[in-house]
Amino acid sequence: MPDARKVFMTRRVPDVAFSILRDGGADVTVGQTDEEQGISKNDVIAAVRSTDVLLSLLTEPVDRDVLSANPNLLGVANYAVGFNNIDVKAATELGIPVSNTPGVLTETTADLTWALLLGVARRIPEAHNYMVAGRYKLWGPNLLLGDDIGTGATGRRKVLGIVGYGRIGSAVARRAIGFDMDVVAYDPHNSAGIEADAANPLLNVRAVSLEELLRTSDFVSLHPLLTPETKHMIGEAQLAMMKPTAYLINVARGPVVHEAALVKALQAKQIRGAALDVYEDEPLMAPGLAECENAVLVPHIASATQETRDMMATIAATNAVAHLRRERAPNAVNPEVYETAAYHERVGNALRV
Ligand code: GLV
Ligand code: GLV
Repeated sequence: MPDARKVFMTRRVPDVAFSILRDGGADVTVGQTDEEQGISKNDVIAAVRSTDVLLSLLTEPVDRDVLSANPNLLGVANYAVGFNNIDVKAATELGIPVSNTPGVLTETTADLTWALLLGVARRIPEAHNYMVAGRYKLWGPNLLLGDDIGTGATGRRKVLGIVGYGRIGSAVARRAIGFDMDVVAYDPHNSAGIEADAANPLLNVRAVSLEELLRTSDFVSLHPLLTPETKHMIGEAQLAMMKPTAYLINVARGPVVHEAALVKALQAKQIRGAALDVYEDEPLMAPGLAECENAVLVPHIASATQETRDMMATIAATNAVAHLRRERAPNAVNPEVYETAAYHERVGNALRV
């Protein structure tokens, strides 16, 4: 039985992945080594035809065409916690395990959420631009006024609304303790997680409906997975429910927000501001967004620390080695695949090669 050895990595991930893959007996090919360049779907398909395992980044759509390019493909290891770039349903039907990199980027992503929240409410990017443009001539009481995040001068507790209360959403809630905030959370798929945190008096979390969250929050922070159900979950109607003084923060996936509707709301000052790490049609922005002074915009960097990216590389490589060995991947997102005839047939096919 020839060993499955070939791993195709669409774009280069941190070095630590390579030693893990090599120790796991893999021969690694990197599709695109230039950090500034992407890789075309045709190139991915051509490579998948002759590889055993695909290690993909969130920049590559791994759809049915890609997945069905090779009847012997043993798995897809995604270098991301999100996996909306992969057609997992098709993968499961075809008997292909798919894995992600959960857990290690939770705290890092929660940190960036707070950096954005603080940055937009205290107008840090605007203030920075003001300084470096040499516009600071005289201090004044009205210079770059923002909003309190914690109880501030008035003692009024601000409300942080968390939509999607998974690992990241709850890590964002934990960070609110120091600001004396009231936290409200909405997650139809994790009421148990919200209840568990609600029982912790330190956390001050309460489950609410999405509508109540939108109507009462001073800061609305989005953390759901992107699914058909969460696509455009924040559109014109939802933005209209938000307080005129509220801020929207999105570090999840761009299409969770109807970006054109958000631009309109920002232009009309219907909400106070928004801070975004992700975009609906990444790397593009909706027309008008870049001109909104009340928007803080960063290029999908929520997990971008050296430590976390190295950990993501470690996990993605470990999953890839498990796929190669036809073992259960530690972070399969479709573990039910291991019980399917399609999977066993595929593994058998691969064994007979
Ligand atoms: C980043 O967006 C990820 O899903 O890991
Ligand atoms: C992602 O890791 C989440 O569960 O929020």
